[in-house]
Amino acid sequence: MPRVGGGVRGYVKVPLVNKRGAETGPAKSRPADSWCCKMLVAFVGVTSTAVLILFSTGAVTTERVLQRSSDVDGQSPPPASSAVVVRQTPPGTVAELPSTMTQRAVAPGLRPCPTKGAVTVQVAGRLGNQMWQYATTWATARKTGLEPFVPRSLRRTLDKIFRDLSVPPVEVISHCHVNWTNSVKSPYDWKKRPGQNVFLPIYPFYETFVLQWVDELRRVFTFHDELLQASHDTLRSIGNSSGATTYVGVHVRRTDYGHHLWIRGREHLASSKFFLDAMAYFKAKYRDDVVFVVTSDDPIWCQQNLAKGSSDVFIAGGSGLSTPEKDLALMAACNHSILDYGTFGCWGAILANGETIVYNLSVSVETSMIAAKLIPNWRVMD
Ligand SMILES: *[C@@H]1O[C@H](CO)[C@@H](O)[C@H](O)[C@H]1NC(C)=O
Ligand SMILES: *[C@@H]1O[C@H](CO)[C@@H](O)[C@H](O)[C@H]1NC(C)=O
Ligand SMILES: *[C@@H]1O[C@H](CO)[C@@H](O)[C@H](O)[C@H]1NC(C)=O
Ligand SMILES: *[C@@H]1O[C@H](CO)[C@@H](O)[C@H](O)[C@H]1NC(C)=O
Repeated sequence: MPRVGGGVRGYVKVPLVNKRGAETGPAKSRPADSWCCKMLVAFVGVTSTAVLILFSTGAVTTERVLQRSSDVDGQSPPPASSAVVVRQTPPGTVAELPSTMTQRAVAPGLRPCPTKGAVTVQVAGRLGNQMWQYATTWATARKTGLEPFVPRSLRRTLDKIFRDLSVPPVEVISHCHVNWTNSVKSPYDWKKRPGQNVFLPIYPFYETFVLQWVDELRRVFTFHDELLQASHDTLRSIGNSSGATTYVGVHVRRTDYGHHLWIRGREHLASSKFFLDAMAYFKAKYRDDVVFVVTSDDPIWCQQNLAKGSSDVFIAGGSGLSTPEKDLALMAACNHSILDYGTFGCWGAILANGETIVYNLSVSVETSMIAAKLIPNWRVMD
């Protein structure tokens, strides 16, 4: 996993399984001032990161800095590789530059300070959560007219997977002394107090707000050609061996989620019955002209419970060769989706943009359940 944090290292310790734990945990675990403390930590983090970046990016090649600035203006986005590979001169060399030179080298990569205000987000969690953090920033900017920025670590994660991301790293306004402490925490708060900056916490994701732009978000998250090519090759070879032309992506989340569901709502993981019923639904609908492409953090369980004796179920990454980005691209390339829960699977199904069957959780604030209410061709099944 890429390093999580950037300017918000104070948040990295929030465990992934406790999705939105900060908002939903018992009151005694949330001292009233914890937000302020965290904000202070975040602010100090942002400030010190900004300072660090001024020094470290001073040594980054000018070429990259210029590419950054064109990315910022949304004109010609840089090739993905330039955004991913951060080449820095070894520590120590910056100090040899006269400060005026450092200043000149950095200036082209910076952008004018936001006049109306800015929105940014704290980063934590893995790919699915980070996509929500990016999308929430993007959507908040769209709604409020504030300028969006994301921590560099978030761009680094997403640039490996998607091309043409337009929200620049917050470091491009590191010279602006934006007082993030003096900001609101959501697009809803901003509506009550416009004129503020928005500093979005890790959770919640404001799904109802964000998903009003679900069609645009499918374009925001456009995969790199290599990932598209790889997933289409995989599907083609699966289709070739099975003869089927309809692909249903099945996302099975297990490992850490059992604990999460129990804490959240005294619920258990979806049983094999849910997946088999949902698969039966698609088989009936497509008269067996269908194959199931399973992505999971527990491929062995899937092999034993979903694929036994079936010639139409393919487990991706069973050999341990898959990666989250490959799994996501594969889900997105499928025509339809079966999804239990979890932000990662939600994005897979959103990007696939087909009919989606979602496991019926009683915890209605889960992202998958909210999405099932909002996106027209999604529905829940017991
Ligand atoms: C930022 O805003 C807070 C809250 O309004 C204020 O207390 C603090 O002094 C400000 N910090 C700076 C550096 O202006
Ligand atoms: C599909 O199957 C045919 C015949 O078995 C084979 O010649 C061809 O290479 C296969 N194509 C792919 C993409 O696997
Ligand atoms: C189903 O998905 C495959 C792979 O992405 C695509 O080639 C095909 O056109 C899709 N079929 C339909 C009916 O959309
Ligand atoms: C989902 O579960 C709830 C109980 O938690 C039930 O009332 C509802 O009918 C179920 N929905 C579907 C579509 O099965």
